[in-house]
Amino acid sequence: MLNKLRGHLKSVQNDPESMDQLTEENFPKHIAIIMDGNGRWAKKRGLPRVAGHREGMSVVRKIVRHANKLGVSILTLYAFSTENWKRPKTEVDFLMRLPERFLKAELPTLIKENVVVRITGDRHNLPDYTKRAVDEAVATTANNTGLVLNFALNYGSRSEIIDGMKSLFQDVQDGKLAIEDLSEASFSEHLMTAGLDDPDLLIRTSGELRLSNFMLWQLAYSEFWFTDVLWPDFSQEHLEEAIKVYQKRQRRYGGV
Ligand code: FPP
Repeated sequence: MLNKLRGHLKSVQNDPESMDQLTEENFPKHIAIIMDGNGRWAKKRGLPRVAGHREGMSVVRKIVRHANKLGVSILTLYAFSTENWKRPKTEVDFLMRLPERFLKAELPTLIKENVVVRITGDRHNLPDYTKRAVDEAVATTANNTGLVLNFALNYGSRSEIIDGMKSLFQDVQDGKLAIEDLSEASFSEHLMTAGLDDPDLLIRTSGELRLSNFMLWQLAYSEFWFTDVLWPDFSQEHLEEAIKVYQKRQRRYGGV
């Protein structure tokens, strides 16, 4: 990670504006993004909502590449919530096709760039074509060691917590876990994000100031950065700006 960041800092050394923006110290390991505002972006242009999602997908491509270049370890992108099924069928169908479209075009590059694709969410009621695309990407990149690109797909935090509790109770019932050994760490291992460090930084675009059932447990001590920028207008510079703001924050975890 440090080497990558050093490389990036070197590449901007002739640009005094960006020189002091990012430092190796305090670099966020896990960045999570609620990518919001695709619909409004399209509406402003008199386009159908799906045009915003299509543009949003191109931004995903750019941001993944940039996060990897900067040396981010984990990038979680909220691509579809358990509540998004309430949208019109045509929009849901379009959104469900996006992972397939994205991975068809990007998987070779992701493999080359050592990215690990991971899915956080309930895969059961995804259409077969979505499952096939994500399963292939997860399997093909499983042995990579670089950026973890974690798509939150058909994800809802409250149901994740309930499912985590169920599986934990099962372990207690089966004698695999003693109640006295239940801890924050052991509970985390029963969530869909098991094995991933909690996000250091949460970004939400489009001016909405809420969590929308996203990683309620995992974001307990994360730093939040909100921007009015709509996701299809989000750029590499915005990502760097968010990291720069994060680096100036003092994380006290309840201490002084
Ligand atoms: C919220 O904006 C966005 C979504 C529900 C979908 C996000 C999906 C992408 C950005 C593309 C994902 C790409 C891949 C590769 C999976 P909204 O539609 O709610 O916007 P609005 O609030 O302006 O209506």
